[in-house]
Amino acid sequence: MKKIYLLPVAAIAIFLPLSNLLGLSGENEPIPALASSSQSFAVATKILQNKCVDCHSPGLTRMPIYAQLPIAKQLMATDIANASARLILSKAVYSGEETLPPLMLARIEGAITSNSMPPHLYLSMHWEGSLTADEKLSLLKWIAEEREKSPLSQDSTKALKAEPVQPLPLTVAVDPKKVALGDQLFHDTSLSGDNTLSCASCHGLTKGGTDQAKVATGIRGQQGPINTPTVYNASYNLAQFWDGRAKDLQAQAAGPVANPGEMGAQWDDVVTTLKQVPAYQSAFAELYPELGLTKETVTDAIAGFEQSLVTANSRFDQYLRGNDHSINANEKAGYALFKDNCASCHVGPTLGGLSYEKMGAKRDYFHRRGGPITEADLGRYNVTHDDNDRHVFKVPTLRNIELTFPYFHDGSVRELADAVRIMAKVQRNKDFKPEEIDDLVAFLKTLTGEYKGKSLVPISATESK
Ligand code: HEC
Ligand code: HEC
Ligand code: HEC
Repeated sequence: MKKIYLLPVAAIAIFLPLSNLLGLSGENEPIPALASSSQSFAVATKILQNKCVDCHSPGLTRMPIYAQLPIAKQLMATDIANASARLILSKAVYSGEETLPPLMLARIEGAITSNSMPPHLYLSMHWEGSLTADEKLSLLKWIAEEREKSPLSQDSTKALKAEPVQPLPLTVAVDPKKVALGDQLFHDTSLSGDNTLSCASCHGLTKGGTDQAKVATGIRGQQGPINTPTVYNASYNLAQFWDGRAKDLQAQAAGPVANPGEMGAQWDDVVTTLKQVPAYQSAFAELYPELGLTKETVTDAIAGFEQSLVTANSRFDQYLRGNDHSINANEKAGYALFKDNCASCHVGPTLGGLSYEKMGAKRDYFHRRGGPITEADLGRYNVTHDDNDRHVFKVPTLRNIELTFPYFHDGSVRELADAVRIMAKVQRNKDFKPEEIDDLVAFLKTLTGEYKGKSLVPISATESK
């Protein structure tokens, strides 16, 4: 694979000086930032336009100098396709009309700090394309300012507003009546075919919102195909399920009830049963006067309850809010490692949930794990049937991670330290020293928050062992 790629590159390298002689240069003047943009953005956009948009702005007429040569054209097309699958710097972005979302800022930051962009192959042909130290600082300064302006960081103390992780809000706007009704439904076993399981059976609120089992167990003891993700902070996810097949919490809640391997019920029967309970009748009549009790209103109430499952006030959040003593030196060292190695995917208030990523971005995971490849292992491919989505999963949240063992979609890893070691290897191709793993784990344990004002910490992984 590599060899095929390298051959034409050698050809281009030989042709390059010739193309310069022929004046085939594609350098254009960068377009200036909108007058309303910040000073830092005005500087950043020049760098982005000079060094990044060639590959990251599909449809752009401007091409790098080598791109007009026959073989290079094909290579360039591949680069543009791969590059824009990860990050699009549209004209609206580099003119300053549109701002980049937190995930894209984290990715750019990751590319700069790990020196991975522009790609080495490209730099070997186009050496003046690399970022200078000054340019790196300018881009990082712009990213920091974007984060400081973001509403997500409004609760962070001034010095920490530019961090890639933001505190969860201490209060969320919810309808208390809907939350109470949804809470009751979430714990009601009459949502299952044989009255044995409720949502809480698999999403225990004292177990970090999971069942703490390798895979879920449905009615009649059926073993499911995949590990149970947490319901805590799920409202922050870009979509629900490991493969993102449900667009939101309401759509998600309809799934397990009717899934024969999970709650194994028929929605019509569930609605009939619930209608026989006077307390439900009156609660639904009050909250949904037009619709009454239906599948849609049941799932809406459950989704409303789930909006309240936000685990704020972890020790790390206290730190972000300005209490420097709430995390110790090891935990801070772990956070520093985390920012350099993990935050380009595990970013934002829930340290995940914002994107889909390949399990094994840098090294094969499944070979290491062993065993046959299951349908669940295919991840997002099951939704899109796009080969690029094989083994791609929604990046899970790392909030309350010490409680949501075992880890990964296959639940194959019991210890957090092992999950961290595997992540470093397969996502970053790095081997951390034991002390570094300890620090990362220590940091991750500061992410355990509170529910209804009570810390989730006491029922921790170590105590239940
Ligand atoms: C010669 C083409 C080329 C240029 C120039 C280039 N990139 Fe890329 N970029 C790619 C390709 C190809 C990928 C996808 C493969 C990969 O991640 O290595 C990519 C991926 C990325 C990613 C996603 C990484 C991730 O998190 O997965 C970011 C961010 C990025 N580039 C930023 C930049 C920035 C910033 C610049 C300018 C300093 C730049 N790129 C210049 C080709 C390019
Ligand atoms: C038998 C165990 C079981 C029951 C009962 C169950 N779930 Fe789940 N839940 C799972 C599993 C397993 C997944 C992951 C499935 C997948 O991604 O393919 C999941 C996924 C979810 C997710 C998505 C979280 C994320 O990060 O993607 C939410 C939200 C959720 N369930 C809520 C509920 C609600 C609400 C109910 C009750 C109506 C319920 N679950 C009943 C096992 C269960
Ligand atoms: C390229 C994106 C990416 C990077 C970088 C990354 N992760 Fe992940 N992480 C993922 C994805 C995707 C999963 C889910 C994989 C699966 O379940 O198969 C995951 C899962 C995890 C899990 C298990 C979560 C759970 O609930 O099962 C932990 C813990 C974790 N990552 C920690 C880290 C740490 C620590 C780092 C840095 C050393 C890191 N990750 C770097 C994408 C990434």
